[in-house]
Amino acid sequence: MMSAPISLRTNAATLPAPIRPGQPITALAPMQDVTDLAFMRVIAEIGAPDYFFTEFFRVHAQSRLEKHILCSIDENTTGRPVFAQLIGEDLLHIERSARELLRHPVAGVDLNLGCPAPKVYKKNVGGGLLRDPDHVDAILGLMRAAIPGLFTVKMRIGFEDTRNFDRILDSVKRHGVDLLTVHGRTVKEMYRSEVHYDWIAHAVQRVTCPVLANGNVTSPEAAIRILETTGARGVMIGRHAIRNPWIFRQCRERFAGLDVSTVTLAEVRAYIDRLYRATADPDVPERAHVNKMKKYLNFVGQSVDAAGAFLHDMRRTQTEAELFAVCDRHLLEQPTRAFSPEPYPGIIARPNCETPSAESDGCSLDTVTA
Ligand SMILES: Cc1cc2nc3c(=O)[nH]c(=O)nc-3n(C[C@H](O)[C@H](O)[C@H](O)COP(=O)(O)O)c2cc1C
Repeated sequence: MMSAPISLRTNAATLPAPIRPGQPITALAPMQDVTDLAFMRVIAEIGAPDYFFTEFFRVHAQSRLEKHILCSIDENTTGRPVFAQLIGEDLLHIERSARELLRHPVAGVDLNLGCPAPKVYKKNVGGGLLRDPDHVDAILGLMRAAIPGLFTVKMRIGFEDTRNFDRILDSVKRHGVDLLTVHGRTVKEMYRSEVHYDWIAHAVQRVTCPVLANGNVTSPEAAIRILETTGARGVMIGRHAIRNPWIFRQCRERFAGLDVSTVTLAEVRAYIDRLYRATADPDVPERAHVNKMKKYLNFVGQSVDAAGAFLHDMRRTQTEAELFAVCDRHLLEQPTRAFSPEPYPGIIARPNCETPSAESDGCSLDTVTA
């Protein structure tokens, strides 16, 4: 068993127990335009993570908590806690938004110190804040004072290098942050570089709160390897949970020393069907909904076949009928064939779009690859 015996700091609130007490924590990463209520419900039906995080609430002088994100908190029926994530830099409005969030059934409030989209970091929010450790310190102090319950932070290891990492980790420690997630890349490294697990291990040593390791946790085997390398309390998984929503259940099996259950292509077909129905909106035309589905399926397709034939055909569909015909052809002709636990080598989710463009206002499915 991989549980790391790190004692929790003695703040008023303690972290929610994982589904299997004593096991490492698993969390679904916050993902803009992905981790909405519908997606969280689909994941929970297949095999919930221990914790959910919302996509970020933008905070600025005119901001109001976005209703569609609030839904994922107020109507959470997953049975698992949801942390609400904020992104911003203005002290007054961060405090206001944090207090507003506390009127909702949040497990805690999380600060985004990692979004790498140029339009975001140029405003000195998200990953941009990593250039200004004094300001991060002020935000952490203010949020800690405003949040009597769980206050969590999700950060990258730096902006273009790790020069400010220790100062920010020391602020995390000083202000009694309850849980720190570290995505082991700099902002400039975006999403496709190697992940620096040694820097996550460094964070684990430097802070007193539990740390979740994030970045390329592709499978239960990878989770075990990363937990061993970093000493982290758990793992946060993003893109590979879109690809393989069974990953949280499989991690629990692996952490318990059991065989990891195999997923068949027929089960993948059922997942796609469920996701299509869960994310359908009567106000969104069929073509637009199919296009949205393609963005999830870009990840799923990495494990369907080694040649990328499913991805090739799926990307050319325009209607629901075409999309499901492609799914039937690739997933139901050999329904008991195994869905690969790891992505097939060289199969990239979005081959033409490695980095978010300057116009992108966040981390969106339009711009992020795997
Ligand atoms: C489509 C997409 C949207 C994202 N949106 C957010 C976000 O709103 N907040 C955040 O902290 N990170 C966001 N991220 C980053 C992920 O939470 C995570 O740190 C990153 O994808 C690395 O983990 P992975 O390799 O498991 O995907 C986003 C990532 C993707 C792919």
